[in-house]
Amino acid sequence: MSPMCMYSCENGLANDFHFVHYGSRSQGGTGLIMVEATGVEPRGRITNHCMGIWNDQQAEELEKIVDFVHTRSESKIGIQLAHAGRKGSTWNNLQIPLEEGWETVAPSAIPYHPSERIPHILTVEEIKEQVDNFKKAAKRAVKAGFDLIEIHGAHGYLVHQFLSPLSNIRTDEYGGSFENRIRFLLEIVDAVNEELNENIALFVRISGTEYAENGWNINDSVELAKILKEHSVDLVDVSSGGNIHGAKISVFDGYQVPFSSQVRNEAGVKTGAVGLITKVEQAEEILQKGEADLIFVAREILRNPYMAVQGSFETQEDCFFPHQYTRAKISS
Ligand SMILES: Cc1cc2nc3c(=O)[nH]c(=O)nc-3n(C[C@H](O)[C@H](O)[C@H](O)COP(=O)(O)O)c2cc1C
Repeated sequence: MSPMCMYSCENGLANDFHFVHYGSRSQGGTGLIMVEATGVEPRGRITNHCMGIWNDQQAEELEKIVDFVHTRSESKIGIQLAHAGRKGSTWNNLQIPLEEGWETVAPSAIPYHPSERIPHILTVEEIKEQVDNFKKAAKRAVKAGFDLIEIHGAHGYLVHQFLSPLSNIRTDEYGGSFENRIRFLLEIVDAVNEELNENIALFVRISGTEYAENGWNINDSVELAKILKEHSVDLVDVSSGGNIHGAKISVFDGYQVPFSSQVRNEAGVKTGAVGLITKVEQAEEILQKGEADLIFVAREILRNPYMAVQGSFETQEDCFFPHQYTRAKISS
């Protein structure tokens, strides 16, 4: 299950909706459930109703979901740690007034859309604080029992804003060269890794390309993936887009799989593929062709929480099915 914001929290707290939402995917046999983009600080949320993990109470509510998944299913459960940067303080993709939202932060004074407020440029000291926010969030996630942590480096949010030369025009050690633009992400990766033990995996989601001239591209992603591997990242989850308003994206079944394939095969890292993968056979074919190591499914698993177990009935493979439901199991 790919991470998906549900915009249903108050004060960043998971509630009954999230318990049922994630719990039901575990009963559907999902191998890995990824909890939605979760803000590492209040300004890291996209909206006022996004999930957060900047305090202990938020982690305690998440722990209830993790415990249910672990005791009542065979699913693994991860959490995506995120900071929205200049794309925060919105509702329905539109920026909300300052009084209802907040001043956004970014590597440079470039808004996502010209009509939006100019973001505050993070000072070097503030960048270090953001790294520390990710580290503290990881510590809480570990305490809550998550099996893995994913750092959200895609879709034009803060980490991506640093990666791209179109949104990052800094002249200090965090901007300019490729090495400087990836520094923020690497510092987060290293800080988060300090909180993990050998049983907890670390993923990074990236946008393989941002579909813009002189922007972040697939060759940058391959180079980044090689470095992430050296920094003990276990898997690169390859999505695309999100940083450039109005970028032209051609969307078709499995449209982002070639990015995953290129990163996997040129960087020699494990990758995840995502984007219009809606059928079990399609997912299996991607794995068999060596284009990815893991398949993330988003919208289809909203439509069908039982996608995995249903697929297993069709392929006659073993899959977790709640013992309470045994009488409904389709036999071969
Ligand atoms: C409702 C919704 C919320 C999403 N929220 C997130 C998110 O929190 N983090 C993220 O990395 N991607 C997010 N995405 C993107 C999905 O994870 C996925 O990459 C995208 O929908 C393409 O996969 P699909 O074709 O299977 O839906 C979201 C997508 C949807 C539909």
